[in-house]
Amino acid sequence: MNNLELDYSLTDAFVSQNDMEGMKGKVEEAKKMLLDRSCPGKDYTGWIDLPVDYDKDEFGRIKKAAERIRGMCDAFVVVGIGGSYLGAKSAIEFLNHSFYNNLSDDSRKAPQIYFAGNNISEVYLGDLLQILEKKDVCVNVISKSGTTLESAIAFRVLSEFMEKKYGADASKRIFATTDKARGALKELSDEKGYETFVVPDDVGGRYSVLTAVGLLPIAVSGVDIDALMAGAAAMREKCLEKEFYENDAMLYAAIRNILYSKGKTVEIVANYEPSMHYIGEWWKQLFAESEGKEGKGLYTATIDLTTDLHSQGQYIQEGPRIMFETVISVGSASCGIVMKHDENDTDGLNYLEGKSIAYINGKALEGTQKAHVDAGVPNLLIKIAGRDAKSLGELYYFMMFACGMSGLVLGINPFDQPGVEYYKRNIFTLLERPGY
Ligand code: PA5
Repeated sequence: MNNLELDYSLTDAFVSQNDMEGMKGKVEEAKKMLLDRSCPGKDYTGWIDLPVDYDKDEFGRIKKAAERIRGMCDAFVVVGIGGSYLGAKSAIEFLNHSFYNNLSDDSRKAPQIYFAGNNISEVYLGDLLQILEKKDVCVNVISKSGTTLESAIAFRVLSEFMEKKYGADASKRIFATTDKARGALKELSDEKGYETFVVPDDVGGRYSVLTAVGLLPIAVSGVDIDALMAGAAAMREKCLEKEFYENDAMLYAAIRNILYSKGKTVEIVANYEPSMHYIGEWWKQLFAESEGKEGKGLYTATIDLTTDLHSQGQYIQEGPRIMFETVISVGSASCGIVMKHDENDTDGLNYLEGKSIAYINGKALEGTQKAHVDAGVPNLLIKIAGRDAKSLGELYYFMMFACGMSGLVLGINPFDQPGVEYYKRNIFTLLERPGY
């Protein structure tokens, strides 16, 4: 099986060899600063070695807890937002059946998985409680700080629901992933006796998918987390060892910055598989929160194709030429559905006879890329080998490493998020929180 590959041939008309040579040194310098931990935000670079240097005891505990949860409940609620949500959500959506929650319990052999704490919608929470009423439930609350408003509100409601439903046994069904020593959630967990998992000090939220933050919910869905880590470890080796022109993460970081310097201020990540929607959302957070600082950074947008060809497709084809596109595609997606011959051919589709839908989707990808390039939208293609945990581990690591370098080339700290605090202060003031 091939590994992740970056094809940037469709940027040739926009990125010259001179541009690449000019950017090469900057990306090399950024990589060096990351690896010798001399970059801005150096205290949050623990994710770099995580695939090979992680807490094996905790990893074992995650697997055991996941098994227990799978045996104990038929609904598992993951409470978290931002980096404490999107990693798990993206992996669970990508690696499982498209209609995971709708499968019969027998074929799923795992609990249904619900997410909460990623909004402040009373309707959403109310509807969720209604579903949970008739189920056996476990909860994983995830918050590094332990004070995030959205997840704290949802957890207060859900923990009350759990205590009402299970009494003292509720604490055996609640799992908390948070800071190892500090914060309100850690205190609460110690007081109530929840089993806790750690978000390492040196790993920020959006770089935490390969910690317990992502791994516990992902393992509960039945995904092989050893394979996920193995994929990340294989990609880490490539990112660290390979020289610029053989190093896809370095090339991706370089091309993004070259295009940005030429006025392409928006990067659109596109997928052609609904199961990849949340990979786009994870990517969007990773790069936007890492790079959007000091008046700089690419605006990150995502589209689902071919769905959005019937909406944003028009804008991409003929709107302002401010964007480039990065398609993330997955190999071998066919499950054997082939277009058949029809006697009447009323729909005029007999010309597709014998072709799989995956083949047609592949042609849609090629045709759309060419149309966009012809219209002045440079295109990159990141191809992952398959819909499997190892390939996804590669992609996660690839993106995190590229993001770290890309942000450093831009001249910002890719590991903080000072702007996120501003709106929080306003909300707290309006809600009359003491001290605000
Ligand atoms: O990447 C980040 O740091 C943020 O997106 C956080 O993950 C998000 O704000 C949630 O924070 P916490 O885990 O502290 O609740």
